[in-house]
Amino acid sequence: MNQPAMQGLDQSTPSYVKNAKLIAWVADMAALCKPDSVYWCDGSDAEYQRLCQQLVDAGTFIKLNQAKRPNSYLAWSDPSDVARVEDRTFICSAKKEDAGPTNNWMAPADMRATLQPLFDGCMRGRTMYVVPFSMGPLGSPIAHIGIELSDSPYVAVNMKIMTRMGKAVFDVLGVNGEFVPCLHTVGAPLAAGQKDVKWPSNKTKYIVHYPETREIWSYGSGYGGNALLGKKCFALRIASNMGRDEGWLAEHMLILGVTTPRGKKYHVAAAFPSACGKTNFSMLVPPAGLDGWKVTTIGDDIAWIKPGADGKLYAINPEAGYFGVAPGTNLLTNPNCMRSLDRDTIFTNVALTDDGDVWWEGMEQDNPDHALPAHLIDWQGRDWTPQIAKENGENGKLRAAAHPNSRFTVAATNNPALDSAWDDPKGVAIDAFIFGGRRSTTVPLVTEARNWVEGVYMAATMGSETTAAATGKAGVVRRDPFAMLPFTGYNMSDYFQHWLTLGEKLAASGATLPRIYTTNWFRKGADGKFVWPGYGENMRVLKWMVDRIEGKGQGSEHITGISPRYEDLTWTGLDFSAEQFDTVTSMDKAAWLNELELHTELFTQLAHHLPKELGQTKEALEKRLAA
Ligand code: OXD
Ligand code: MN
Repeated sequence: MNQPAMQGLDQSTPSYVKNAKLIAWVADMAALCKPDSVYWCDGSDAEYQRLCQQLVDAGTFIKLNQAKRPNSYLAWSDPSDVARVEDRTFICSAKKEDAGPTNNWMAPADMRATLQPLFDGCMRGRTMYVVPFSMGPLGSPIAHIGIELSDSPYVAVNMKIMTRMGKAVFDVLGVNGEFVPCLHTVGAPLAAGQKDVKWPSNKTKYIVHYPETREIWSYGSGYGGNALLGKKCFALRIASNMGRDEGWLAEHMLILGVTTPRGKKYHVAAAFPSACGKTNFSMLVPPAGLDGWKVTTIGDDIAWIKPGADGKLYAINPEAGYFGVAPGTNLLTNPNCMRSLDRDTIFTNVALTDDGDVWWEGMEQDNPDHALPAHLIDWQGRDWTPQIAKENGENGKLRAAAHPNSRFTVAATNNPALDSAWDDPKGVAIDAFIFGGRRSTTVPLVTEARNWVEGVYMAATMGSETTAAATGKAGVVRRDPFAMLPFTGYNMSDYFQHWLTLGEKLAASGATLPRIYTTNWFRKGADGKFVWPGYGENMRVLKWMVDRIEGKGQGSEHITGISPRYEDLTWTGLDFSAEQFDTVTSMDKAAWLNELELHTELFTQLAHHLPKELGQTKEALEKRLAA
C-alpha cells in the first residue's frame, strides 16, 4: 500500500463505484502502469472545463477566440501521430484463423508478454483517468458499457463528447454489471522533474484487441481511433464479435432519416470507407428542385443493428458525437456540419487564423471570391501564407495548412439536422442499406441489388481508393468489404456468412428485408475531374431509392443489378446532361472483366470459410458479362 499509485487510488475511488470487478481491475492496471495518481471522471461540465483549462496550461490546447468560436479548442498532434495505424492494429484471438487473413494476429499469450514490459510503468509522472462510458443510450437494451483507463486528458475530454460519459454509467453497471475494459497509454512516462511535451506519444504503437475476453489495450498513440477506444476498437472490432455471437450487426455505417414531401419517413444505413463523405451524407441538405424532402441525422459513422421481434432491423448510433474529417467541409458541402462546429468543438490538426479562429482547406469556398487567408499558423505551428504554401507544395499543389486527416470533435446535439429519434433506445427500423466506395472508374452511380445475396456480394467485393484516414499511401484501390476492412474484429469470410445467415433468418420469419444499394459518387471524366456534383445532389439518388421502396421508381437491369436510366432521376434544379449521366453510369465490359479478376483475387485470399453463395453469385455475374 505504500506505492504512490495505490495511495492515489485509495484516495480517489468514489463511494458510488460499487462494481468489485471494476475496482479490482483499476487497482491492477494502476499497479502495472504506475501513474502518479488515479482520477475517476464524473462527466460533469465543470470537470470538462477544468480538464480543458489544464490542457491549455500544458500547451496541448489553444483556446480559440471566444467571440468567434465559443467554448472551443485547437490541438496540434505530434507530426508522427496523425491517423489510425492499421499495420499496428491486432486481433489477438486464440486461433489465428478466427482473426482471418485481413487482420494482423498474434497469439494472446505472446501479445500479453510483449505488452507487459511496455505497460509496466508507462504512466509514471502522469494521472490515470478512469473514463466510464456507455455506447448507446444509457440503460438501453442495445447499449454496452466500457471503461477506458487513459493517461491522456485529451482522450478524457474527447470521450466526454463522443460517448455518454460519466457517473451515471456506474449506476447502470451496479455491483455485478459487465463492461469492456479499455486500457490506453500514450507510452511516454515522465521521469521526476522531466518537462512534458505538448503531445506525448511513442514511436512504438500497438492497438490490440482480445476478442474472446473482450479487452482492448492501446499503446503509444494519442490520436483518434487509436486512443478514443469507444469508437473503432470497441464499437466495431469488439462489438462485431459480440454481434456475431449474439445475432446482431456492428457496422461502419451512418444512419439517416429521409422524409418525403408527403411526410412518410424512411431510414437508411450507409457504409462508405473512412473519409468518403459519411458525415456529409448523414447531414445532407436537399437541393433546390427537391423541395419538401428532408434528411435528419441519427449517426455519422457507426451503427449497431439488431433484429426486432417484428422481423425488422433496428439501428442505434452507439456514439454521442462526431469525430469528422475537417478539410473539404464548408457551407456548400455540409452547412449543417459547419453550423454544428460554431461552438463547443475540439479541433485537432487544423490551422489557426490570426484572429484566433480555425481554418482548413475548402473553407475558402465560403467566401464569395474564394480568397485564401493572407496568413495562418499551420497544423505544425509554422507560418503559412499562400506564397509559402506555393513554395513548399508538392505536385503543383499548395502545402496544406490543415493536415488532410485533421478532425473536429463535436456533440451530436450541436447538429441542427439531428433526428428526433437519434437517442431512442429502441433504435430506428432500417429500410435500405447503401455501400459506397470511392472509384474513379468502373462502378456506376447507383445500383440496386436484386436480392439480399447479391447485395452482400456487392458489399463484400467493394473496392475503394484509399484516403488519409489511415497512414499509408492515399489513392490506391483496395478491396474494402462492407467498408469494414480495418474494423471487422474476426474472420472476414465468417463476417460475410453472418450477414447471409441474418438475411436467411429474417426472410424465413416472413419479414421484408431492407433493400441493398451500391453507390459511387466519385467517377471521373477524361479531364480527371469528378463528374457527379455530389453532396446535396446525392438526394436525387436517395429519392430514387425511396421511389423504388415505394414501388414507383423505374430502372434498367444490367450485369450487377438495377440502375436508373437518365429519365428515372429527378433533374429539376440541376443542369446535368444525359452525356454526363452516361459518364457516371456506363458499364464498361473490359473494366468489369478486370474488376471480376480482382474479386477472384479477394475470394482467393478469403477462401477459408468463404460462403459458397458468394462464389455462385460471381459465376452468375461472369455469365451475364460473357453473354
Ligand atoms: C473514422 C475513420 O475516423 O473511419 O471514422 O477513420
Ligand atoms: Mn469511420
